[in-house]
Amino acid sequence: MLQRPRRLRFNQHIRDMTREVRVSSKSLILPIFIMEGENIKSPIDSLEGHFYYSPDTVFEAVDDTLKHGVNKFLLFGLPTEKDEIGSQSFDENGVIQKAVRMIKERYRDEVFIITDVCMCEYTSHGHCGILDHGYVDNDKTLEYLTQIALSHAAAGADMVAPSDMMDGRVAAIRQALDKHKFINTLIMSYAVKYSSSFYGPFREAAKSAPSFGDRKSYQMDYHNKQEAIKEALLDMNEGADILMVKPALSYLDIISEVSKQSNLPTAAYSVSGEYAMIKAAAKMNLIDEYGVMCETAVSIFRAGADILISYYAKEIAESINKGD
Ligand code: PBG
Ligand code: ZN
Repeated sequence: MLQRPRRLRFNQHIRDMTREVRVSSKSLILPIFIMEGENIKSPIDSLEGHFYYSPDTVFEAVDDTLKHGVNKFLLFGLPTEKDEIGSQSFDENGVIQKAVRMIKERYRDEVFIITDVCMCEYTSHGHCGILDHGYVDNDKTLEYLTQIALSHAAAGADMVAPSDMMDGRVAAIRQALDKHKFINTLIMSYAVKYSSSFYGPFREAAKSAPSFGDRKSYQMDYHNKQEAIKEALLDMNEGADILMVKPALSYLDIISEVSKQSNLPTAAYSVSGEYAMIKAAAKMNLIDEYGVMCETAVSIFRAGADILISYYAKEIAESINKGD
């Protein structure tokens, strides 16, 4: 007998009813860039549609995002001063610490605040850790990362997200948080973060490109998959609550593997270059921006992601409401 899989595609009702992957705006996270200063709202050239806010104006972004049904934010900070050891990153009056306090005071538990824990936006050399003769010193860096994470937790962050790729940082941060009674502050580890060319627009936006060399001695080689599993399982065993894979689109196989092999929620970060490619191609009238945005976002969930961090978070939430 002829099999007719097309029957399940016959009309919108049957397609809607049998759809396999359903996306929820509750699993979306929007990145926001916060700049030291006051009364700032200025466009980010490399990330069309996104703005720098200062701690006192960031509520404009939060309000607007909440209207779209997204209530989770990943905060990145741009300090005024950078130095060798990224002093502003763990300063209790640093830009992120201030912003988190102000947001939490205003919105309390209406929003879920995640902070990026790294040094590259704060160091004069732009590397994600403390340098020793030009090499990022792992264990020295851990001392700083724990200070950063603690200062974010003290300001009220719900979850910290270390993105540096140092060995042992999840255990170090967990231990420090627990010791200071932040037992319910979660850790979303950038467990599998590749050394990628997709970060260009972000580095431009965050002014965090390394001033010499590259990040290959800490971020992963994109030829490797076994190593991704190793990194993911290590972070799980060190006490991470959520594992992240980054970037997303070129790493759907990794997302799939990590989600199968760990028993933690898997987050995927659809990074700045992925966003920029869609924007640029759409501008040239080569693709339909809305369609490609929906299709790529769903592909990431279909691969196994439970959570998506995206510069399109608001627009994706809207598309979900429309049933796309
Ligand atoms: C570094 C960091 C990077 C991103 C966020 N934090 C990558 C890097 O510069 O190596 C990239 C995010 C994006 O491209 O959207 N800690
Ligand atoms: Zn970094």
